[in-house]
Amino acid sequence: MSKIITILGIESSCDDTSAAIIQDGKMLANVIANQKVHELYGGVVPELASRAHQLNIIPVIDQALKRANISKKQIDAVAFTRGPGLLGSLLVGTSFAKSFSLALNIPLIEVNHMQGHILAHFIDDPENMGKPNFPFLCLTVSGGHTQIVRVNDFFDMEILGETIDDAAGEAFDKVAKVLGLPYPGGPLVDKYAKEGNAKAFKFSRPQVADFDFSFSGLKTNVMNFINQETQKNEHFITENLKNICASIQYTIIDILISKLLKASDETGITEIAIAGGVSANSELRKRLLEFKEQKNWNVYIPKFEYCTDNAAMIAITGYYKYLKNDFTNQSIAPKARYSI
Ligand code: KG4
Ligand code: ZN
Repeated sequence: MSKIITILGIESSCDDTSAAIIQDGKMLANVIANQKVHELYGGVVPELASRAHQLNIIPVIDQALKRANISKKQIDAVAFTRGPGLLGSLLVGTSFAKSFSLALNIPLIEVNHMQGHILAHFIDDPENMGKPNFPFLCLTVSGGHTQIVRVNDFFDMEILGETIDDAAGEAFDKVAKVLGLPYPGGPLVDKYAKEGNAKAFKFSRPQVADFDFSFSGLKTNVMNFINQETQKNEHFITENLKNICASIQYTIIDILISKLLKASDETGITEIAIAGGVSANSELRKRLLEFKEQKNWNVYIPKFEYCTDNAAMIAITGYYKYLKNDFTNQSIAPKARYSI
């Protein structure tokens, strides 16, 4: 009988501390500790994030082992996020993974966070929409990245286009801040947009070549618009919050979708996946499902839990690296900038 492979995954690249257990590709536990401390500041404060990771990491790993009902001795390898991300945050997960591997004498596997987001589609979970066939296109949209990636194989990925300034999640968070909403604003914009009219206000659409994106102009456009309107009516935001959110959300998602359409048309690839925090957005999910019908796309949207940062995506990537004997060693260091 072939051996069962059990991987512990650790994620600490930004403001979520997470540990997961994946056994033969199946998720047994995925524990995520969010850091509320950043809400007050309108964005992640790196020093506070690394301190919170230090407090959270042991309880989170302990919880993951308990929920999976396995002992440390059953773990075959430990996979951790090497980058990209905040260096102080990455250091906590990296140091823990190195010590864990040394203490248990098990292999250490380094994982690229963005590859992790994409490979989350391969977690054996009935709530995922199946595994995409290679090659597929993945729109990876998070707080730090916006990319269209051509995925030829598990570890053969090519960036076709990316943002030249702000990421899509960052655009959501920045406009939410202008509207006085706490960080992270993306999920709140999504929530208010559900009851608003997306055609109420019109915002600028950038002209960017090929498959690249730009979102910084939209933020300035929203800021100027809000300043002008609040000078005329100081209650403008509260009176129009749902319509403003719906209109901004429509613009951001439309920018993303139009580039994805172009990439599919030009490559001829109709296997289409999304990944990263913004893939939790209801408008993006809705629009993609419309294209599934219209364009005959096979669409893959991750289970909600695997959209935003989580360690299950790190553990599944670790599992596929384990199958290739792709291990690292104790001299490994985290990388704040780390391309896929
Ligand atoms: O992937 P992720 O958890 O962390 C990074 O690696 O950046 O993505 C976080 C981003 C944040 O910008 C957050 O506002 C955004 O994802 N986000 C959303 C939604 N849920 C999370 N943006 C729009 N709509 C949502 N429902
Ligand atoms: Zn992420």
